[in-house]
Amino acid sequence: MKEHFYDESSFIGAWYIPEDVCDDLIKVYNENKDRRIQGKVGNQRVDDKVKKSTELILNKDNPDVSRYKEHLQNALNMYKRKYPFADAVVKYFLFGNIKIQHYKPGEGFYKWHAEREGNSIITNGRHLVFMTYLNTVKDAGTEFYHQKITTPCIKGLTVIWPSDWTHKHRGVINNENEKYIITGWYNFKINYKEEVAALKTYNPQLVKELKEILND
Ligand SMILES: [Fe+2]
Repeated sequence: MKEHFYDESSFIGAWYIPEDVCDDLIKVYNENKDRRIQGKVGNQRVDDKVKKSTELILNKDNPDVSRYKEHLQNALNMYKRKYPFADAVVKYFLFGNIKIQHYKPGEGFYKWHAEREGNSIITNGRHLVFMTYLNTVKDAGTEFYHQKITTPCIKGLTVIWPSDWTHKHRGVINNENEKYIITGWYNFKINYKEEVAALKTYNPQLVKELKEILND
């Protein structure tokens, strides 16, 4: 896989997947007009000032994403080779929803954000995020605040990065051209119920703290 190289200290990995995989995904998007929804942020909230897009959510088992998943796996393998400690964590898996997002001219993810934000278990369980640009648009990439890196919107470029606040980012808004991406996450396997039950047995004092964490 051809790498779009960023310094190791950025924790941003980027590799190119074949262009025809991208074309097929745009075709899937175009063929599913009635299943598209307005882009959401946080807890399934629509907020045009934060993000404006139209999305097609595909289940990861959908055959329409099977070829993409193969190439995504290759990119993840490259990321793990570059950052071995990204794999020295508890088990994680490709999250069920993979989204094809369409931004019309002037639309985008306007606000600085990270992927691990908000108070949902699912959001907090995110380990890595991936995104592939499905078409090439000049001045339409993704700007990373602390890394001072803007990944370019080049068809096939697949970017992987950590979900944390260290990787605050936002879309570069292009007022003339439309942009397509596919994106999703790798989530940790978590089991809060068992953990809470176990902690309650050996340290009852922790119940208060747990209630606070779990907003219970
Ligand atoms: Fe994002």
